[in-house]
Amino acid sequence: MEEFKFKDAVIRLKKGDITLEETEAIVNAANASLTGGGGVDGAIHRAAGPTLLGECLEITKKIGSLPTGKAVITGGGNLRARYVIHTVGPVWGSGKEEKKLRSSYRESLNAAAEKKIRSISFPSISTGAYRYPARKASRVAADEVLKFLEENSSLREVNFVLFTRDVYECYLNAFKKAMDERNNL
Ligand code: APR
Repeated sequence: MEEFKFKDAVIRLKKGDITLEETEAIVNAANASLTGGGGVDGAIHRAAGPTLLGECLEITKKIGSLPTGKAVITGGGNLRARYVIHTVGPVWGSGKEEKKLRSSYRESLNAAAEKKIRSISFPSISTGAYRYPARKASRVAADEVLKFLEENSSLREVNFVLFTRDVYECYLNAFKKAMDERNNL
């Protein structure tokens, strides 16, 4: 695990399973239907139990589907986390991918701030089934998180829970680079 201190927050990079996180909120890499899926979406729905799908269906009854780059918040069901923030990342090749991925991170962070959530865990959004190259995605994630922490002091803990070693290395390099860029300003 690697830890960075930035403004009033601690950023932790971990290799593991996001469903085991004890942060107040965990972020789900969902799809527009919010009905679960494979990857991290499937893992979160399995661990949270059926109440999560129930809450998601309530939301989609109201809004239809969740647009790419947007985020919604539900309870955490049986998860240790109190909340799940569902966001739909971009599919690589769908166009304007970086803009959409930035929006997913920013909207998820804003949803947490609205609830005065102090600790949040992210997976590597869009880098699995949606095929966003992890190296590029990790740079977007690091930049959006540091930008948010520069402007908001509500969040005190931001974890990234990476499932594989190679993705972990991408995020480690991305955060080191982003921190250096800010420290050398
Ligand atoms: N904990 C943390 N990370 C995980 C876990 C887990 N339990 N399971 C998978 N991952 C990682 C993957 O290894 C990948 O690096 O999450 C990252 C995102 O991969 P996906 O889950 O495939 O998400 P994404 O690429 O955003 O695709 C979303 O896949 O599961 C469907 O319903 C989902 O349609 C949506 C699409």
